[in-house]
Amino acid sequence: MGFVLARSAVSSVRLAAKGPIIRSALAKPAIYRIPVQSRAFSVAAPMFKKNEVIKETEVPVSIYSPDGKGVATGPDHFSIPVKAGATPVTAPVEEAENEDVVPLDPKVYKAMSPTMQKMTVMGKVIIITGGARGLGNHMARACAEAGAKAVVIFDANQELGDEAAEELHRKSGIDVSFFKVDVRDGNAINAAVEQVVDLYGAPDVLVNSAGIADSNIKAETYDPAMFRRLIDINLTGSFLMAQSVGRAMMAAGKPGSIILVASMSGSIVNYPQEQSCYNASKAGVIQFGKSLAAEWAKYSIRVNCISPGYMDTALNKVPALDAQKKIWRSLTPQDRLGAVDDLNGLCVFLASDASSFMTGSNVLIDGGYTLY
Ligand SMILES: NC(=O)c1ccc[n+]([C@@H]2O[C@H](COP(=O)([O-])OP(=O)(O)OC[C@H]3O[C@@H](n4cnc5c(N)ncnc54)[C@H](O)[C@@H]3O)[C@@H](O)[C@H]2O)c1
Repeated sequence: MGFVLARSAVSSVRLAAKGPIIRSALAKPAIYRIPVQSRAFSVAAPMFKKNEVIKETEVPVSIYSPDGKGVATGPDHFSIPVKAGATPVTAPVEEAENEDVVPLDPKVYKAMSPTMQKMTVMGKVIIITGGARGLGNHMARACAEAGAKAVVIFDANQELGDEAAEELHRKSGIDVSFFKVDVRDGNAINAAVEQVVDLYGAPDVLVNSAGIADSNIKAETYDPAMFRRLIDINLTGSFLMAQSVGRAMMAAGKPGSIILVASMSGSIVNYPQEQSCYNASKAGVIQFGKSLAAEWAKYSIRVNCISPGYMDTALNKVPALDAQKKIWRSLTPQDRLGAVDDLNGLCVFLASDASSFMTGSNVLIDGGYTLY
């Protein structure tokens, strides 16, 4: 027997079945039939009867846990009731910013399992550009919490950079320093990196988060001087920082991890705002990171990119963007912008030895935006 469908459903079935549609001569109004051999099909698990709706009233649970002395005990069996009807969906709560910085206690580190130890940055020297505020600042805090020996902030903003370094040191108790460096200035970067080596030893990690964005600028009216400036900060800056820190790692014969903050805009074209230069700069960062990863694997230097989606940072806290933010959210499956600390876990992971076989990757972290 054929599969009978009402007319309104035909176009979707035509797509799904990819088979010829045959009009039944008997049917009124128009009814369409798909031959048996080409219709869509599904395979169900054999223990369930066809069309059976599963509605258990309780869920059996077996829990295996150690007793208070860490000795494994027998299973604890019980059932939990199932409430009728769907669990109401509540609006997500905006994550409050945790202002505390809790450094990793060496005693706690020693007590960790080998897997968890690898996921820390214990004893590492970490340079973070753009660490004065925003995503870079929160990644700096996360590194301090994950065991860094020293966190070094490079930023072009003197006042914010100084404040950020003082605050991070006061809260974490670890060594923190700030260098007022513009990532376009190769000589200043080299001098600063040399000083970092003198102070703490060769860096283990570079997180390059310094960057700017121009958006809502049409390519036909884009000032070439602005275009060059953005490329200079976002792309040339990534190169100058990676080159300087990479050389210091090579000179010390130290393995290292370089993390370049790119953007999902390096892989997709944003909507609705026009921002060709920013997108091009970040695509350049991603391809630069991959090339560097291939070149520097022989020095045990890993290079990976983080590509964030829309994040709720000062970069986007512009009233003119409010209307567009609604569109961005609507195009993001998680229906929100990223929190300012949403890159922290990935940053620590890429900086840590837990990601030691990972190089040349570009990790999207975007609430699902690029799925659509
Ligand atoms: N916020 C987002 O939605 C978003 C999305 C994708 C990617 N990104 C990228 O993440 C990175 C950080 O963004 P953010 O939102 O934290 O921005 P932000 O503006 O809050 O912070 C950027 C920091 O970089 C510093 N900086 C800017 N130009 C510099 C230069 N020439 N030299 C040295 N320091 C400089 C600034 O002083 C600031 O402290 C940027 O590279 C940005 O392109 C951001």
